[in-house]
Amino acid sequence: MSFDLNSLLRAHILRLQPYTSARDEYTGKEGIFLDANENPFGSITLADYNRYPDPYQSALKEEIAKIKGVRPTQIFLGNGSDEAIDLLYRAFCNPGKDNVILLPPTYGMYEVSANINDVEIRKVSLTTDFQLQPDKILAAADDHSKILFICSPNNPSANKMKREDILFLLEKFPGLVVVDEAYIDFSDEPSFTTELDRFPNLLVMQTFSKAWGLASLRLGMAFGSEELIRILNKIKPPYNISGLTQETVLAAIQDKVKVDRMIKEILSERGLLQNQLEKLPFVQKIHPSHANFLLVQVPEANKVYDDLIKEKIIVRNRAKVLLCEDCLRITVGTRAENEAFLEAFQKVCS
Ligand SMILES: Cc1ncc(COP(=O)(O)O)c(C=O)c1O
Repeated sequence: MSFDLNSLLRAHILRLQPYTSARDEYTGKEGIFLDANENPFGSITLADYNRYPDPYQSALKEEIAKIKGVRPTQIFLGNGSDEAIDLLYRAFCNPGKDNVILLPPTYGMYEVSANINDVEIRKVSLTTDFQLQPDKILAAADDHSKILFICSPNNPSANKMKREDILFLLEKFPGLVVVDEAYIDFSDEPSFTTELDRFPNLLVMQTFSKAWGLASLRLGMAFGSEELIRILNKIKPPYNISGLTQETVLAAIQDKVKVDRMIKEILSERGLLQNQLEKLPFVQKIHPSHANFLLVQVPEANKVYDDLIKEKIIVRNRAKVLLCEDCLRITVGTRAENEAFLEAFQKVCS
């Protein structure tokens, strides 16, 4: 299927003259900088943050490109993946005219962001074992369907989607296909970034918030064609990634070994937690997990959730979510946290 990104784009974004920031025009490090109305004396903090950061995060993208096996020009960095989700709506979806396809149960921000941007949502539920329904998805789409959001591994169900179904949709869906891989580091599934050169309609999202343990810094990645990344760069706020985040993540990337160690530990704790949960008679179902959480079904999940809170154990109540009736989503913690959870869980369920 031929794919023309510009025909998908909102007309005014195609015409948009982006803001050019001071540091776009001169990228050198040497010189006397009297261009950006900064404070020349430094900062009130120990480290200096008085200068605006690199708007395109070039040094950071060079390093991310190496570990992700993509080109720096295929990377967009956002203030969390949530910024990339919002920018996609703003770039491609005309309020009151276009629509997006969402696949519940899934990550809530796709819907919230659509509502913020006043964009029609068409929902096609997953199957009861949380897989895609490709034919129904295509049947729900029309010429105004701009984006299909696929979350794999999926939040909150924790499973990965069948690769052949995603590939089929990449071939057939008329708009952009976003594959949100926030939890990919906890799965044995290879990333869809390997498919970028084959599918110009693909955008893969990942984040530093989960496996890398950097949720507070807010750094999300989107990988796509150079043309698509240029569009996101054109409409983003000029300095969307702080200098502190850029520096910190640049240093963190050098310590990939530590990340791999943490992932291994989380996976091992996930296995232990699952084993312990399987032994509990009141646990009705533990959904297979490719993520750093387990979706667990228990009778009267709402009451269990409230009782756990009284024990100061906070899990995510998914009991009202489609196909997740009576389910709680439990993030894998440290050994001590998981043990405390298990103790409280048995207390409130017995
Ligand atoms: C599937 C999914 N995508 C994206 C995000 C948000 O990521 P970020 O912290 O990069 O905004 C989350 C957070 O829970 C998530 O579950």
